[in-house]
Amino acid sequence: MRSKLFAVLIVTVLTGAAVAVYFLRPVERQIRDLAGFEGDVNRGAYLARASGCFGCHTDSRKKGPVLAGGGAMKTPFGTFYPPNITTHPEDGLGAWTRDQFAAALTEGIGPDGQNYYPAFIYPHYTAFSDQDIADLWAAFRTVPPVQNSVPGHDLPFPFGFRFLLNGWKRLFFDQGAFKPDPAQSPEWNRGAYLATGPTHCVACHTPRNIFGAHDYAHDLKGTADGPNGEKVPAISGDELRKKGWSKKALAFALRTGIMPDGDAFGGTMGEVVQDSTRWLNNADLDAIAEYVMSVGVDAGKIKKGAN
Ligand code: HEC
Ligand code: HEC
Repeated sequence: MRSKLFAVLIVTVLTGAAVAVYFLRPVERQIRDLAGFEGDVNRGAYLARASGCFGCHTDSRKKGPVLAGGGAMKTPFGTFYPPNITTHPEDGLGAWTRDQFAAALTEGIGPDGQNYYPAFIYPHYTAFSDQDIADLWAAFRTVPPVQNSVPGHDLPFPFGFRFLLNGWKRLFFDQGAFKPDPAQSPEWNRGAYLATGPTHCVACHTPRNIFGAHDYAHDLKGTADGPNGEKVPAISGDELRKKGWSKKALAFALRTGIMPDGDAFGGTMGEVVQDSTRWLNNADLDAIAEYVMSVGVDAGKIKKGAN
């Protein structure tokens, strides 16, 4: 009787271990082939602005050097310190190749094969096209090297183990460049690409589940628990209209920071305008507004973009 119980226990433990090993093995890679793509520095700089790389990777509170490493980023999973991404050979990306840069942004994989945390929002940047990555890389090569070694992240057990992210990626990471929806206009598609990818409105305005992944059933419906514990309002088209917004007012607010009631955006949204959206051209701001104002309005027509 006892040995039978023991056998059952062994089988249970082995099955559990097998399931864990299966679940936590690395996800299949989708390596971008950038051969033949010539990067354009100006386009890359524009995309870097749109994407808010400067916001996270510069410690603006301490007036730290641009892109040489960010200030503490507090999340429910611990505190992250965005690394130095200048061209410094040891502290930054000076010794990186373009393919390594592409893998970091689109697959969340580092030069040593390690997983990155989604606090580095590659689940949005995976929307970049191959040409976008080539342009960004060309722009980042022009950033002067700055010596500044950034402290390691401060994450409670067990979040320090990067292999656990294999399981996270398996469940929640939808790799691949943005795919336009042929049923929608070019403007809507450009807006969907910008809002779900580079400018990542979704990252803050769509609620997350307990694993920190987006709950797209409530796309852009806001959350009580945004960055730094901030409350983030709903901005789906149906909700914005109720609050007196229009497409024109939204594009204007993203350019100037001024809302329809005459107030300025506060908190993190003020930084989003400062670091990202005020740098966008009018066509791109209109496109974002076109897309955002359509979300939640006719659920049958609206498709989920990239993450
Ligand atoms: C929301 C904050 C945030 C934004 C925006 C952001 N990053 Fe990061 N980035 C991070 C964090 C946090 C890490 C560290 C991730 C880790 O250690 O797993 C990181 C890591 C990286 C790395 C890996 C560096 C290394 O030394 O391993 C690269 C490259 C990078 N980011 C480039 C970019 C670029 C390019 C952009 C803009 C397109 C960008 N990041 C925007 C937060 C951000
Ligand atoms: C880093 C997080 C973050 C990102 C990214 C972000 N937002 Fe916001 N947004 C906020 C927060 C926080 C507020 C509330 C600001 C306040 O309290 O004044 C806000 C407020 C707003 C409002 C005001 C809504 C209202 O009810 O008054 C609009 C509109 C808005 N955001 C649109 C956008 C769009 C469009 C994007 C993408 C281009 C975007 N946001 C990206 C965090 C973010």
